[in-house]
Amino acid sequence: MRLLFIGDVVGSLGRKQITDYLPKLKRVYRPQVTIVNGENAASGRGITEKIYKKFLQDGADIVTLGNHAWDNRDIFEFIDDAKKLVRPANFPEGTTPGQGMVYVKVNALEIAVINLQGRTFMNDLDDPFRKIEKMVEEARKRTPIIFLDFHAETTSEKQAMGWWLDGKVSAVVGTHTHVQTNDARILPNGTGYLTDVGMTGPYDGVLGMKKENVLEKFVTALPRRFEVVEDGRGLLSGVVIDIDNTTGKTVKMELIQISDDRPFRE
Ligand SMILES: [Fe+2]
Repeated sequence: MRLLFIGDVVGSLGRKQITDYLPKLKRVYRPQVTIVNGENAASGRGITEKIYKKFLQDGADIVTLGNHAWDNRDIFEFIDDAKKLVRPANFPEGTTPGQGMVYVKVNALEIAVINLQGRTFMNDLDDPFRKIEKMVEEARKRTPIIFLDFHAETTSEKQAMGWWLDGKVSAVVGTHTHVQTNDARILPNGTGYLTDVGMTGPYDGVLGMKKENVLEKFVTALPRRFEVVEDGRGLLSGVVIDIDNTTGKTVKMELIQISDDRPFRE
């Protein structure tokens, strides 16, 4: 099975990258499943129903979230009906709307897609390591093909999660830090691993925010409100992962970046 995962879509520029390039990427790479992290899609904070539906229309099969999942209040109105939307699984059980794992059918196969959030320098959610252990046990009864979007701040927590799940899931790919890392690898027991897939959005900001405001904050040490860059040059970051249908192990990973410095060629 070939899976395409596109990292953190930031604001309207990010959404435009998806509309412009996702159909082309699908033509070139022919993925059977496409997953997009959309937690920053609505002006950098959360997602709306309209944006979620547009992602599906543009070619996404599943949309994952992260720590900004609840920033846009619209989410509470539609998350329970959004069958293709996955929020971090380790929010408290019983009180959190939405779902932390979804199954996608691909012909006779099925893939489990899980979203999980880290805890280091982030909100103190349930232990992601214990949580995922139980979820993987459950998912493996249905399918050996399991994908994890691990939304976390530190490289160490992400690497630790990769080792924790080596041989238990098909791939662990990090999101949230918005800069693509160059460490895609297949761990010894067959789990594909990438610390961060990178962002999709403004190419000339600081992690998607206007650089002037961020610079001012660094230089003056005074509080500054950050705003998403809404025009200018765009960037798309993703990864293509080939998974063996029988074993669920990753056999190949290929990083994708589209920008003025790395133009897309069909
Ligand atoms: Fe995030």
